[in-house]
Amino acid sequence: MEIKTFGVIGAGQMGGGIAQVAAMSGLDIIMHDIKDEFVQKGFNTIAGLLAKNVEKGKMSVKERDTVLGRIRPVTDLSAMSEADYVVEAASEVEPIKFEIFQKLDKICRPEVILATNTSSIPIGRIAAKTKRPEQVIGMHFMNPVPVMKLVEIIPGLATSDATYQTTGDLAVKFGKTPVKANDYPGFIANRILMPMINEAVYALYHGVGTVEDIDAVMRLGMNHPMGPLTLADLIGLDTCLAIMETLYAGFSDSKYRPCPLLRRYVEAGWLGRKVGRGFYPY
Ligand code: CAA
Repeated sequence: MEIKTFGVIGAGQMGGGIAQVAAMSGLDIIMHDIKDEFVQKGFNTIAGLLAKNVEKGKMSVKERDTVLGRIRPVTDLSAMSEADYVVEAASEVEPIKFEIFQKLDKICRPEVILATNTSSIPIGRIAAKTKRPEQVIGMHFMNPVPVMKLVEIIPGLATSDATYQTTGDLAVKFGKTPVKANDYPGFIANRILMPMINEAVYALYHGVGTVEDIDAVMRLGMNHPMGPLTLADLIGLDTCLAIMETLYAGFSDSKYRPCPLLRRYVEAGWLGRKVGRGFYPY
């Protein structure tokens, strides 16, 4: 089946980014979020990023208008009945994802693949909420989506080869490089990245260094493009905590326990760049 209409659930930083790269690849996008203001905010962010591309001479005004014209913001999930492929990028909270997949399973045509951009929730657990587990797969984009080359592709135990192939082909169409990861908590990316970020928070908690110095060590000493605390602010501290909780529960191993300071920041609502306050003020 040819994929022409691409559904994206969630218009936040990940969903918006996915909608943008998919629209730039020529697909028609249905972008869903639960409130009008959320989809509008997501749409405006995409418009702003495309305007920057125009300023830099990477895109003509006509191209920008064509790409934006391909994105249809919606708040009614039943609009996904028109989609040929759907990727979910809602909050990293199991009950929210489970409910979305149960609803999509009823709304979408039977042949449609339902992908999730989850950063660590087992694909098999999400797939089991549907009657089409062979068509459920992980399609994990990195932040910022328009810039980062990687898409982790995670087949669950029941995922078919055809679903895996179609999803990898889509990632290539979006200009990305697909890499396969098996369905264990955190897959590959967050299995390695999150314990590093969590350890950076522990270093801060134990007073080994200041926020700036911890980041400087990793930037200047290891050539990371951003320090781990800056990166945590970019990803969102709530997402970082949720991923650590998933690793901790999924492996039943204390080495993945989230740092109490990370939890304290999240409880205070200091979630990072998206709210204007995390390890740094914005
Ligand atoms: N959206 C779109 N484009 C962006 C952007 C954003 N949020 N932020 C930066 N860019 C673009 C800039 O416009 C610029 O584009 P041009 O080359 O066309 O001018 C380019 O990226 C480079 O940006 P800057 O020069 O401003 O800054 P930089 O060189 O420091 O690069 C960065 C910024 C690409 C974000 C870089 O710091 C980086 O690679 N950081 C690490 C990001 C990372 O590790 N991401 C993975 C997070 S983990 C994850 O996402 C998975 C998960 O499940 C948690």
